[in-house]
Amino acid sequence: MIMVQDSVVQEIKERLDVVTVIGRYVPLKKSGSSYKGLCPFHSEKTPSFHVFPQTGTWKCFGCGAGGDIFTFLEKRENLPFPDVLRMLAKEAGVPLETVKPEVKEARQRLLDLHILATAYFQTNLLASPEGQRARAYLTQRGVSQETIEAFQLGYARDGWEHLIQHLTSQGFSLEEIIQAGLAIPRDMGGAYDRFRNRLIIPIRDIQGRVIAFGGRILGDGEPKYLNSPQTPIFDKSRVIFGLDMAKRAIRAKDVVVLVEGYMDVISAHQHGFKNVVAAMGTSITPQQIHILSRYSRNFVFALDADAAGARATWRGVMVVQEALAERGVIAPTPSGFRTEKRMLADVSIAIMPEGQDPDDVLRQDPNQWQSLIENAVPVVDYIIQQTAAQTDLQTAAGKSHFVAEVLPTLSKIGDAIQRRHYIGRVASLARVRESDVEEALAQYEREQRRSASVRRKPSASTTSPPPLPPDSSVKVVSGASEEPPLWRDDLQVESAPLATSPDLSRQPRAIGPEEHLLGLILLHHHRLMPWLEEELAKLELDPLYLEDFTDSLNRAVFQIIEDYYLDEIEEDLADFFSRFDETIVGHFHALWQYAQSFEQSKPKYVQLSHLQREAITTLLRLRLKQARDTQQQLELSIQEAITSDERGVLDRHFSELLQRRRKLEQSLLRYSQTAHWTHPHHSFPSSYFPPTTDS
Ligand code: UTP
Ligand code: MN
Repeated sequence: MIMVQDSVVQEIKERLDVVTVIGRYVPLKKSGSSYKGLCPFHSEKTPSFHVFPQTGTWKCFGCGAGGDIFTFLEKRENLPFPDVLRMLAKEAGVPLETVKPEVKEARQRLLDLHILATAYFQTNLLASPEGQRARAYLTQRGVSQETIEAFQLGYARDGWEHLIQHLTSQGFSLEEIIQAGLAIPRDMGGAYDRFRNRLIIPIRDIQGRVIAFGGRILGDGEPKYLNSPQTPIFDKSRVIFGLDMAKRAIRAKDVVVLVEGYMDVISAHQHGFKNVVAAMGTSITPQQIHILSRYSRNFVFALDADAAGARATWRGVMVVQEALAERGVIAPTPSGFRTEKRMLADVSIAIMPEGQDPDDVLRQDPNQWQSLIENAVPVVDYIIQQTAAQTDLQTAAGKSHFVAEVLPTLSKIGDAIQRRHYIGRVASLARVRESDVEEALAQYEREQRRSASVRRKPSASTTSPPPLPPDSSVKVVSGASEEPPLWRDDLQVESAPLATSPDLSRQPRAIGPEEHLLGLILLHHHRLMPWLEEELAKLELDPLYLEDFTDSLNRAVFQIIEDYYLDEIEEDLADFFSRFDETIVGHFHALWQYAQSFEQSKPKYVQLSHLQREAITTLLRLRLKQARDTQQQLELSIQEAITSDERGVLDRHFSELLQRRRKLEQSLLRYSQTAHWTHPHHSFPSSYFPPTTDS
């Protein structure tokens, strides 16, 4: 029997009472077998947020959110799973296995290595004759001695093995230096220094520990900067340059200023503007935004004039919007449904004068910098301005294009007065009536609502099973649901199936559809992730998303896969995973092993089309299964509803659920009708995978 080791999570759930934990955030009232209250995740007047003590779960019938105490705290406190795990483990008194001592020790070695390297580079800069050129360069750029010390700037001497020799003389092995990214292996064996004849800018984590380096060429030349590669201690997508020095000021001023360059940050700090940081050369990532938003949710992007309209910048602004904008939720009101959206982050843009970057502005006139930042343009104005500038507003087609382009932005403005203000601006720029813009906006929001209701969790019923034709390729395991559980096809699981039965949660978990799907994705992510995205879009279903997974560990694993894709991480998925918490890594390996043994037992899954079909049908069944659970709970709640108002709202949720369920069933049917379902747009149904294991 294959089991996933999540005993820690289970033990915590056992020890903590779901009603107590959630009750701290939401006033709950007993209602039949469950407790209910006003949903903290969307705005409502009639409680549709339910907590089920027997199963240790919660569910909001209004916005579709649901899960266990882990998912509740993740959402409510906006914390990643490992943080919630630590929090709840502490409260429950369950000891957490810490990171393996070997792993910890290896990381510490890398950190120590960076301490030594930093000191070596500093000495080179300040005391070596060769450092003279670098010193002159810094002087010419106006970098003070104090700044050099504060940022621990250094110099890498010209030569192939200076650093390697220094570090090996201090007891570090060549492998370690290569692992740290400071040496590059040669094909013939041996290695050479990555940084040669460059100004060295140490990159530090939030706690101020050096974890990587940037190396700038002295003067002009290509590449201008060399940076450390991703290493076990350096994840570019999560590091923010200067944050260790800036975090206090960001909190105190409640504004974070984002610039593009290392030198811009250094210059800003030297001039006393301490709330300035930079992303690591690429456009900002959602992870960086999340980290920064712990210090402030007011962002000012300081952009060069030429960069201001560039795509990368645009993407950066959008990333902030996406990462911080509260998800639109559909709130039931007496007169129907209403979309509620709010822009949580206050994002503004400060555009530098033509041809200047922040460093130039600061050195020329720090007051001008100050006023540019203070007069930063709110992103809504910026988007409207930019869109208007890119459109020919003289033509009829141009006008409607312009209005259509800004609708998504307008729709995100929650404040009625601001909304009116911007509608007025758009109307006057396009020279159309305000009522025309309003109408277009209303139309846009209606469409959004329609697709949002498709996007929300689908549903099914226990009383009337989905009309699926028997699928000859699978056997139904008795005691399971009517839907053929593919994931247990050959691998007989001895324990009872994954079910809502409460006492089962006390046992080590068996492989269920969530784990099955995740396992397949882990093994074949490069083929399955893009394909699933396309396929689901064609079916007009929601993309694979975090909410598809109800189990916290599965969610944590899926989150990492998503990050892996978002950040376009180049290293192997398994290596990427190895950096996370012990519990997550353990779960990852269990899933991986499971998926491998599953595939070995089923040769037909060598074929891509089978694998894809398996993935999508598992996902659809998973969604149907979750929907069935929801519906069961909803039925119970309808029975227990006291006022007719309450019942009315729940009834509406119910009919919506039925609709979504139908859509899922229809989709599933498409795959079940033909044994070898091939998509008309895909031409590689017969391609083969490389062997997935070394056996
Ligand atoms: P900039 O060219 O604006 O850098 O690139 P800068 O820091 O202002 O440098 P100066 O003022 O010309 O000395 C912005 C950032 O992009 C990354 C670095 O993080 C840089 O700070 N970058 C740029 C690279 O990683 N590699 C490059 O070759 C260029
Ligand atoms: Mn610059």
